[in-house]
Amino acid sequence: MRKQTVRDIEIERQRVLVRVDFNVPLDEEGVILDDLRIRSALPTIEYLREQRAKVILCAHLGRPKGKIVESLRLAPIARRLAELQDAPVASAPDCIGAEVEAAVAALGEGEVLLLENLRFHPEEEANDHAFARQLAALADLYVNDAFGVAHRAHASTEGVARLLPAVAGLLMEKETEYLDRIIAEPERPLGAIIGGAKIADKLGVLRTLLAKTDVLIIGGGMANTFLKAQGHAVGDSLVEDGQLEAARALIDEAAQRSVRLLLPIDVVVADRFAADARHKTVPVDQVPDGWRILDVGERSVATYSEALRSCRTVVWNGPLGVAEFPQFARGSATLARFLAGLDAVTIVGGGETAAMVRETGLAERFDHISTGGGAFLEYLEGRELPGIAALRDG
Ligand code: 3PG
Repeated sequence: MRKQTVRDIEIERQRVLVRVDFNVPLDEEGVILDDLRIRSALPTIEYLREQRAKVILCAHLGRPKGKIVESLRLAPIARRLAELQDAPVASAPDCIGAEVEAAVAALGEGEVLLLENLRFHPEEEANDHAFARQLAALADLYVNDAFGVAHRAHASTEGVARLLPAVAGLLMEKETEYLDRIIAEPERPLGAIIGGAKIADKLGVLRTLLAKTDVLIIGGGMANTFLKAQGHAVGDSLVEDGQLEAARALIDEAAQRSVRLLLPIDVVVADRFAADARHKTVPVDQVPDGWRILDVGERSVATYSEALRSCRTVVWNGPLGVAEFPQFARGSATLARFLAGLDAVTIVGGGETAAMVRETGLAERFDHISTGGGAFLEYLEGRELPGIAALRDG
């Protein structure tokens, strides 16, 4: 990313509109389950406060589809942010309008205001120009620190960046610096582990990675389609029959490019899709009829670890098994422990994978845990993200 950042412009005492990604998982009572995205925005907020800027944060939560949804108000996030930065955070009742303008006018230097959920207005996702102008009118400068939403061309990520001097925040800078280490000139050998349920979601990134990696490991539900494409019987496992051709083409391309493509060699099969399902580990060519693959086996993880041992850079997106069921998350947990001890640049992306790595308690031993899900994949794929493209060139 060759873009200007908050360090490149005069910020002192300015009103700064900052797009952050505070789209955090909440439980049914509205309790924040994981505050990585809030913590990750702190360096930019602190930097702006040190510059005595008036910090106006804007964010979305969930997909309220243009309507007010009480459970998706940002009040719990304002409280958590206040705790984390150990300073008050004012909350606005909306993200545009007279009351918001008054709240901005009342904001002192170095103070922080969090606007209400942008997606309560349908104009946000429609990238409506008049709505973007109302947001822009609140501030002198715009900072995009919402890497996780940079793949969306919305009013708060793209439209408003065309109306104010617009630069990247420190999180945006850090995220792209790490991903550039994979897509530009990685320290080799480069290993990638791509898991998750569906090939369809990852085809683009798999194709890009095939052209860059030395070792490519495919896990998760989508590995089943590759196994079937190789002629294995996969019982009642989730398979995307429409992607069998694509899987075969990827296997062939890996061979042509001399990329070491690794699929599971043993799998944990279960008699149904449930946390407490009966289960056993079998070689991939012995999946019983009526059973389904829910995780990779120990021998697979040992093979992956061996292949990754010499890698200097490793990127991981998507769990190897069903992460929400502890007994089918073991393959991923074992791999996470191995990567935590590896002497390589290790980068993890995607909500489930990031959460799983943190659950092992070893997150600090990874170089970078991305706040991006869809944005992480699209950036890795080499696509231009509209929220970044709209910022000032560096
Ligand atoms: C995410 O959770 O990946 C980002 O916050 C984007 O959210 P969205 O997929 O609802 O646009």
